[in-house]
Amino acid sequence: MHENQLLIDRISEYWNERIHDLEIVTHPVGTAGFFNDLAAYRFDKLNYLQRVVDFTAFKGMKVLEIGCGAGIDAVLFAENGADYTGIDLSRTAIDLAKKNFSLRKLKGTFRVMNGEALEYRNELFDVVYVHGVLQYTADAGKMAAESLRVLKKGGQLIAMVYNRNGWLNIMSRFFKVGLEHEDAPVLDKYTIAEFKEMLSGFSRVTIVPERFPVKSRLHGGLKGFLFNTVFVGLFNLIPRGLVRKSGWHLMAFAVK
Ligand SMILES: C[S@@+](CC[C@H](N)C(=O)[O-])C[C@H]1O[C@@H](n2cnc3c(N)ncnc32)[C@H](O)[C@@H]1O
Repeated sequence: MHENQLLIDRISEYWNERIHDLEIVTHPVGTAGFFNDLAAYRFDKLNYLQRVVDFTAFKGMKVLEIGCGAGIDAVLFAENGADYTGIDLSRTAIDLAKKNFSLRKLKGTFRVMNGEALEYRNELFDVVYVHGVLQYTADAGKMAAESLRVLKKGGQLIAMVYNRNGWLNIMSRFFKVGLEHEDAPVLDKYTIAEFKEMLSGFSRVTIVPERFPVKSRLHGGLKGFLFNTVFVGLFNLIPRGLVRKSGWHLMAFAVK
């Protein structure tokens, strides 16, 4: 079997067995409380997301999300009237995303699919959204090329990868604290220049570094205490302009 397909199979297996952010959930998997826990945690940790992505701007547009996970951001698209399709390699993720939508009585299409080989025709979607997925796939360049192919001319890709020069990567190495999903078959980080290169097929690309420290619910002990009480406060006193390039999430807004 082809090397890429073997790696895709391992990635699929890994994400079939794990649910992103499950550690913070207090309600049984698949219940309304479970999805609310995930959303509350996500939008606290990613407090920038709804500021830089206007989820109300896609009413009536065809939106494809690659790697939709449990469908947390998907809800924001669908609630605001987008014609939403979510795909993921993981059957577990797709089943959860479907459940999330049915509990909220939202309409959307979900399929288990490889984002590196999309089963959609050219120029079908207005928006492709890929948040926290390119860094976990076998060949991110292939996924970026597939996103470009299925976008209409003038359509937009909104994507996020981890910043190799981001504060969290630097801290994780310095304090020897592992990153989440460091055991995944693939976990890549990119510089701004590498991310721009990956998206060089697009006519216009803007990269915005985001995701600065917020208090962690995951780490305890002395390291967790110092992080929450000293580091987060001190870091956020520094004017953003000076630390902007060290944002952990590189958000790309790219036009076909
Ligand atoms: C860290 S989770 C992020 C999920 C969601 N986007 C979020 O931000 O909460 C990564 C997701 O990417 C999916 N994924 C990885 N490679 C993929 C691929 N080639 N095609 C589709 N989904 C993929 C995984 O199955 C997993 O659900």
